[in-house]
Amino acid sequence: MRQPSLASLALFLFLLLHVVPEEVSGQFWAREGAKEKGDHEEVVHGGDDENSQKIHLPVVKLSNDNTIPLVGLGVGNLQHYVVPLMVAGAIQDDKRTRLIDTSHISDNEHLVAEGIQEGMERVLGGNDRIVTIHVVTKVWYTYLGYERTKLSIRESFQALKSAMDHPRVDLKVHILLHWPRCYDNISWMSCQEDEARTPHHIKAAGPPPHQDKDAWKGSWKALEEAYLGDEFPIRSIGVANFHLKDMEELEELAQVQPHILQLNVWSLLYDSQLIDYCYKHGIHVQVYSILNGIVTEPQKAPNAFHHLQKVASELTDDKQPHSQQEQEEDEVSPAQVVLAWLVQHGVSIVPRTSRLSRLKENSAVALASVPDLSVEQVETVAHSVEAFLSEDDLEKDIHVKITFHATTKDTFLYWNTHDGGEIKVAFIPKGESFNEMTYPNHSFRLYDARNKDHFIEYKVDAKFGSHEHVHAEL
Ligand SMILES: NC(=O)c1ccc[n+]([C@@H]2O[C@H](COP(=O)([O-])OP(=O)(O)OC[C@H]3O[C@@H](n4cnc5c(N)ncnc54)[C@H](OP(=O)(O)O)[C@@H]3O)[C@@H](O)[C@H]2O)c1
Repeated sequence: MRQPSLASLALFLFLLLHVVPEEVSGQFWAREGAKEKGDHEEVVHGGDDENSQKIHLPVVKLSNDNTIPLVGLGVGNLQHYVVPLMVAGAIQDDKRTRLIDTSHISDNEHLVAEGIQEGMERVLGGNDRIVTIHVVTKVWYTYLGYERTKLSIRESFQALKSAMDHPRVDLKVHILLHWPRCYDNISWMSCQEDEARTPHHIKAAGPPPHQDKDAWKGSWKALEEAYLGDEFPIRSIGVANFHLKDMEELEELAQVQPHILQLNVWSLLYDSQLIDYCYKHGIHVQVYSILNGIVTEPQKAPNAFHHLQKVASELTDDKQPHSQQEQEEDEVSPAQVVLAWLVQHGVSIVPRTSRLSRLKENSAVALASVPDLSVEQVETVAHSVEAFLSEDDLEKDIHVKITFHATTKDTFLYWNTHDGGEIKVAFIPKGESFNEMTYPNHSFRLYDARNKDHFIEYKVDAKFGSHEHVHAEL
């Protein structure tokens, strides 16, 4: 029986105090129709005319009938100097990640615009090829309140202006309230100090929001007016990090209901009532912090990570490589398994990366080519992700089983360590066998017991769950 960790207990208690009990329809991946929600797709053509191939990019229709891509690039907390490079790379035809998630507090909206401009120089096509790019930005909590939020919207649009004015770019801007309020009990928030540090022109626009827990209500009015008015072309409005209680209050006062709720992956898995509320009210769920602490730290839950690797290799087998050259790209990675698991259930993702190779791995094109996960794989991924979030690893590990046969000589079996050393595993007398549980990519050395100059190397290239036989013919 797996014991809940302190972190999951704390979260459970927190949710118990903050959410109103009501009947919910289960986890997001198990909901009826959850799979179909991800099936709204846009058909585009990749490559030049000769090699053109149909790709179905995952998009979703918001409650205002506007579509939004399900796969984005998060640049919210990316180092400034890489932002233009990543944005320019993401929008290229080989990736087609044409949603960029940022925020006003990140102070990089102008760099997003710069990246779009730079990237468009490389996106092929004549002057008549218009490329649609979505930017999600957010109003920080120091800008809460009607007037301050109006200022934030204006500043965001000023920063994005060069991309808005680009003749070949159709820029769709989505604006969310980043937080309902500043919380004194969230360790990295410092409400009074943040207000004290707020530039004068923002302070002059409206009263200090940290003294009014409902300041977001004025902000919502400002967002609605901007959305309904002619001054700013806003594609949709929404909120981030709102609890169920905030959502219900928002529903009461809103003239325009939120189109999007952006949440941490924790809330997606553990706050079923909030997610249920979104499903029932047609509010699209976008998720952040999907990779951080999961695929970035396999050692936190090694068994769970091995299960993700197993699903990845099963999906790789399901993929039909188009050509020899593409085979490496056709390998499904554990990160792609987690991302595709969400996208295939109609949940938006905004993974961040500072590496061009991962830009491709996390891209809309790459994720569109991941085969549909089976019901069993969906459950495996859900439990593995939960194991990482709760820091309570899955009980069962999975291995590759290798039977080493000492066919011709008495044999020593050694395991090659990652730092170049070797560790003795067994002595196998001639004619006998030895069973070892191991992992893909581990390597072993089999020595002739009487002459250590004679040896053979063996690298495990079998998949998780399989059983291989190695005959040491020394
Ligand atoms: N609404 C909000 O309050 C809020 C809060 C936080 C974040 N966000 C948004 O969400 C975005 C992403 O969330 P996050 O910053 O928490 O991080 P994340 O996307 O969960 O994880 C980023 C980390 O994963 C690594 N990574 C990326 N792709 C990978 C891959 N294919 N395989 C292995 N590792 C990979 C990155 O390293 P490398 O750079 O080395 O690739 C980086 O260390 C942010 O940029 C921001 O736009 C919103």
